[in-house]
Amino acid sequence: MTSDLTEVSVHTHFENLYGYEPTGVWSAPGRVNLIGEHTDYNDGFVLPFAINRRTFAAVALRTDTVCRVASSFEQTVHEIDLAGITRESVSDWAAYPFGVAWALQQVAGSENATGFDIFIDSDVPVGAGLSSSAAIECAVAVALNELWNLELDHRALARVGQHAENAIVGAPTGIMDQSASLLGETDHGVFLDCRSLEAEVVDLGFAREGLELLIIDTKVAHRHADGGYASRRAACELGAQTMGVAALRDLNADALPNATELLDPLTLARVRHVVTENQRVLETVAVLRTQGPRFIGELMHASHVSMRDDFEISVDELDTAVETAMRHGAIGARMTGGGFGGAAIALTPVEKISEVTLAVTAEFALLGYAKPDIFVVSAAPGAHREE
Ligand code: GLA
Repeated sequence: MTSDLTEVSVHTHFENLYGYEPTGVWSAPGRVNLIGEHTDYNDGFVLPFAINRRTFAAVALRTDTVCRVASSFEQTVHEIDLAGITRESVSDWAAYPFGVAWALQQVAGSENATGFDIFIDSDVPVGAGLSSSAAIECAVAVALNELWNLELDHRALARVGQHAENAIVGAPTGIMDQSASLLGETDHGVFLDCRSLEAEVVDLGFAREGLELLIIDTKVAHRHADGGYASRRAACELGAQTMGVAALRDLNADALPNATELLDPLTLARVRHVVTENQRVLETVAVLRTQGPRFIGELMHASHVSMRDDFEISVDELDTAVETAMRHGAIGARMTGGGFGGAAIALTPVEKISEVTLAVTAEFALLGYAKPDIFVVSAAPGAHREE
């Protein structure tokens, strides 16, 4: 599905369903994280990029306070009153757009807020760790920000998306996904300091160097409203508290010997992942700027090993995807996103793409895993108005 088709189709679907024309169409991309996993809620560093898979939202305001959302992926029209949005009153994917409407009012007040009708379509795969949820949140956030005349900038909108996800969806996630979806640029990564929210775009140079980034969606579904993500976050908070710092961002490798004395072995392993991962993000940015993307492979793989062994958020399918890709010519590979399923990424020379694809597919079949979905993504622009 191309972006144009989706843009036109949401407009038409909106009209067919609601019986009038939308005011406009806004879109926001999914994201992959190149490196920096579970560092965002530790006030650390991340390097994601927005991908060329997007969510499109056709939107119009209403004169009353009724809010309706519908999508191409199911028949239901979800409806709620603007004043009635709570964690308990919303469910399913509708929690994302309704959550954003709620969070915008928390941040900017409700004077300008009215009801709305929205129709959504998306080619961001769901459950693959590519932030299909952030894509919905950010498309709706830019739309309502404009239609309600709130004049919030994209950084503030990232906070709005995170707030919606934490308070209304009930997933204790960080700021990375929404920041990537809002701040992404073609061919660039978003190097974000999750404490200050200062962001710099970093030239990835993949195409110039004859590289492509392969997504290997393992089809193992994950949900961050489940316990694994929250328990990792709690371990990090315990680690920071015991070490006497505001967040794990405030520790570097020099602190690890002392941490060994103070922390239980499990908390130590979680802390070690975050501390070393922050360092790997900084090194990756430096290597991209000085030597280029062909030299970041070891850092990517070290990140995977750290998530597998210290943070324990990988699964067999992700490990198989990473190791098979590496054996067949990928420069670097790692799981991406929150973990417990979802996708791996493999930075691969163009001439090795088919070999890696065939090898991973064959290995999954041999091991009796579900057939993986393997495709190339590129770095695309962040959320904006389409028409
Ligand atoms: C999920 C969360 C992000 C981040 C990653 C792990 O994608 O939504 O905030 O914590 O997991 O890096």
